[in-house]
Order: sequence, then C-alpha cells, then structure tokens
Amino acid sequence: MTLHIGDVAPDFEADTTEGHIRFHDYIDGKWAVLFSHPKNFTPVCTTELGYTSKLKDEFDKRGVVVLGLSVDALSDHAKWADDIRETQGYALNFPLIADHDKTVATLYDMIHPNASDTMTVRTVFVIGPDKKVKMSLNYPASTGRNFDEILRVIDSLQLTAQHKVATPVNWKPGEDVIIVPAVSDEEARQKYPEGWKAPRPYLRIVPQPH
Ligand code: BEZ
Repeated sequence: MTLHIGDVAPDFEADTTEGHIRFHDYIDGKWAVLFSHPKNFTPVCTTELGYTSKLKDEFDKRGVVVLGLSVDALSDHAKWADDIRETQGYALNFPLIADHDKTVATLYDMIHPNASDTMTVRTVFVIGPDKKVKMSLNYPASTGRNFDEILRVIDSLQLTAQHKVATPVNWKPGEDVIIVPAVSDEEARQKYPEGWKAPRPYLRIVPQPH
C-alpha cells in the first residue's frame, strides 16, 4: 500500500525493544517519526541509530516520539543495541520494532522488491498529532539519512501547522518565511500590520512568527 501525505498512518500492534505497543495508542496526540532501516548489525544502520539516539533531547523538545523498525527479531535488536552504544557513544533510547514477519513493513510499503525483497529501504514517515502522514522519504540502503534534516522538516511542519506560512528553500528556524497564497493581502495585513517584502505579488516574505 502506498501511503500519501494526508493519509492516516495505519495502526498496528508490534513487539519492540520497549515492550508490545499499539501504534495509535503509543503516538496518541503527539508528533511521531517512524523510520525503517534495512538490517541489524550493518554499518550505516549502526551510525544512523546512534545519531538518532544522540538527538533525543531535540526530539523531546519538539514533542516528537521516535520509533525505528527493521525486519530482524527482538533478540537481535537487544544484542545490536550494545554495539550501537559501544561504537557510537549513545545507547538506544527509543523503541525499535521487531517486524520479523514484515507486517508493518508491508503496511507502510517499506520493502521495495527491486531493491531487496528481504530488507526494508530507509523510509521515514513524519506523522502529525492527527495521525496523518505529513512527510515521507525513501533512501537506498547505501545512503545514510541526515537526521538533522528530519528535525528541520519537523520545525517547518510545526510552524506551518500553527501559522498560515510556508518555509522557503533551505530555510532554517529563525529565518524569514512566506505567507501562503491562500491568505489574501487583506487577511495578511491583519496578521502582519507592519507589512511584508514582496518582490512579486505572490512572493510575500515576513519574519518567522513565534
Ligand atoms: C548498512 O547499514 O550499512 C547497509 C545495510 C544493508 C545494505 C547495505 C548497507
């Protein structure tokens, strides 16, 4: 099943390194990141999971729960967690789903058979408090993801969920943002009485609202 932005992220039950969960209960009312990695005891995955653990305070600050997934068994997850701590300097601090029967991977289209029919690709879903998919991406097994970019996307999503703005190319928190086209100039004047920069009528730039 292909999941699109705006679709409800499917519910499931699964065993994880932090116990059995029902996904919708686990993420209830929160932002969530669900990501797959191809296989335990592999080098790129080891670096990704160490770095994601390092970012725990950043995810917490944004009210985001993180879940990882691979199609390995729960007993393998526990053994591999020691390697992650020892080699990356950060102990695993989020649940890792043991999807050995590929139920969740299939539900979320994380297996791309022309890449591999046994391992998941590197998929990321960012899910909103309404349980809808806000962002998804797929990377091949050979390319480690940039989890700082995932945080940047979450910052943009959380900003645009609160204000009628969009974020421009390469935006970083604190930089100027764009008033979305659906907002008329009249409505924009009420929110931004000091005005905006408009190099074109459709390109209205304001400081980031807080
Ligand atoms: C890795 O994490 O290094 C990896 C996993 C599966 C295939 C290729 C690389």
